[in-house]
This record gives sequence, C-alpha cells and structure tokens, in this order.
Amino acid sequence: MQKTLVIIKPDAVQRRLIGKIINRFDEKGLEIIGLKMTVISKELVKEHYSVHEGKDYYKKLVDFMTSGPVVIMVLRGKQAIKVTRKMMGSTFGHEAEPGTIRGDFAISKRFNLLHGSDSKESAEKEISLFFKNGDLIENDQSGLKWVYDLSGDPTDENSF
Ligand code: TYD
Ligand code: MG
Repeated sequence: MQKTLVIIKPDAVQRRLIGKIINRFDEKGLEIIGLKMTVISKELVKEHYSVHEGKDYYKKLVDFMTSGPVVIMVLRGKQAIKVTRKMMGSTFGHEAEPGTIRGDFAISKRFNLLHGSDSKESAEKEISLFFKNGDLIENDQSGLKWVYDLSGDPTDENSF
C-alpha cells in the first residue's frame, strides 16, 4: 500500500469542484486517510514546490497556490501514486486526456485544479509537510474487503 498527497488547488475550490474531485478518488477505491481545508503559507508552498525554484513560472505558481483556500488530502491504496497521477491527467489542462480530472474540467496550464505527488520520495516529503503522524487515520481498514481480495497473503503484491 502506498500513500500520496493531493492538493485541490484554489481554482478548483472557487469553481466548486471540491466534491467532484474527492468523489473521483473515493469511488475509485483509494482511501482518504487525511483531509483538511487550509490557506497555505508562502513558506510552506515554497518548500512543497522547491524543485521548481528558478523556473520562469515559479513565482506565479507560488502566488496562485497561496491565493485562496485549498483542500489537502492523503490517499492510500495499491500503487496510489501512479493511480492518482493517471486519474489527474497530464499537467496542462488543454493537453490532458478526456476522462481524467484535468482533461474533463481544466484547460489552463497553471490553473490545473490539483496536485499529486510524483514519486515515493516526494509523497513522503509532501505528506510530512502538511500532516503530523497522528493526523492520519491509518488503522481502520474495515472498508477494504470489497475493494481488494484480502483472502490471501496481504504482503504478496500479486494476491490482491
Ligand atoms: P509539475 O510538477 O511539472 O506538474 P504536475 O502538477 O503535473 O506535477 O509542475 C508543477 C506546477 O507548476 C503545475 O501543476 C503547473 C505549474 N507549471 C506551470 O505553470 N508552467 C509550466 O511550464 C510547468 C512545467 C508547470
Ligand atoms: Mg509535480
């Protein structure tokens, strides 16, 4: 099981897409194990997007991400990082495939509705920036038995 961080960006919140976006991941079977609404500080967003520092779009990106409330969540599931990225669609709305979240609801480059971690390392870093360990609901797996086949060895990746 992997964990990944998703940020529903200020454009999606203002466009009343919070429910739709959460629903896509919820219905897929990814577990929401952390969820909050907040306005991110400049410091935190700079840390979160530190690999983009120096890029021509960086300042505008930081300004956008701090321009209003966002919804931040931690999703857990098998291959959660890859699955989430696939569901989001490619970075720019006008290039994202229909059927993906960006492909269905975004057309802009910058106003692209959501963030999702792109690797195990970035997921760990990003989750720890926005959530303390005790904030995540890690233990309740009672809803999973019709999402995965849990009848075999749960440590065997092929068994479920
Ligand atoms: P990136 O990590 O490449 O995309 P993704 O969100 O799909 O992981 O870039 C981070 C954000 O920076 C992206 O969501 C939108 C913004 N951005 C631009 O505004 N212009 C650009 O040319 C790129 C590459 C990104
Ligand atoms: Mg990225």
